[in-house]
Amino acid sequence: MTIRTANVTDADQLAALSETLGYPVESEVIRRRLERLLPKPDHVVFVAETKPSLVAGWIHAAEHDILEVGCFCEILGLVVAADRRGEGIGRSLVEQVEHWAAERGLNRVSVRSNVARTESHPFYERSGYVRVKTQHAYRKALDNL
Ligand SMILES: CC(C)(COP(=O)(O)OP(=O)(O)OC[C@H]1O[C@@H](n2cnc3c(N)ncnc32)[C@H](O)[C@@H]1OP(=O)(O)O)[C@@H](O)C(=O)NCCC(=O)NCCS
Repeated sequence: MTIRTANVTDADQLAALSETLGYPVESEVIRRRLERLLPKPDHVVFVAETKPSLVAGWIHAAEHDILEVGCFCEILGLVVAADRRGEGIGRSLVEQVEHWAAERGLNRVSVRSNVARTESHPFYERSGYVRVKTQHAYRKALDNL
């Protein structure tokens, strides 16, 4: 298995895995997002390639700079193909993000995981992440502005 930075040509496979994650997104939309995100120095998308051109997982992370908190890295998305779980792919992707963050001088990686994603909770704990709080998530559509 190889962990490498994502390419725009991975869009189809990233879209298929996003559906597994519960976010059905068309390949073309993922392709446009990759075109926008990949040049940004404060964002990173890594993929796990198990055979040439076969992507079994991806992770997206970013550096945040928050007024009251300062700079830190957050994992924004992570998924491993359902038939490739339990092989260490998820951990390798997280470790790659940790190295990326450390190279940027960041000293913390955070991740928010839906309470419904029960498989991810022991996974993060096995990877050294400590649950620090439980939150409510709020959202407002700006249809009327
Ligand atoms: C969570 C997820 C990324 C884990 O990926 P994975 O490749 O299967 O995980 P790994 O094989 O690298 O597992 C690493 C460790 O976590 C443990 N682990 C992984 N999934 C687990 C589970 N469901 N229950 C208990 N332990 C688990 C492994 O046993 C391993 O422990 P070890 O220290 O004994 O080796 C994968 O299950 C997934 O894609 N889930 C759906 C999407 C999701 O929840 N994403 C997270 C969004 S925040």
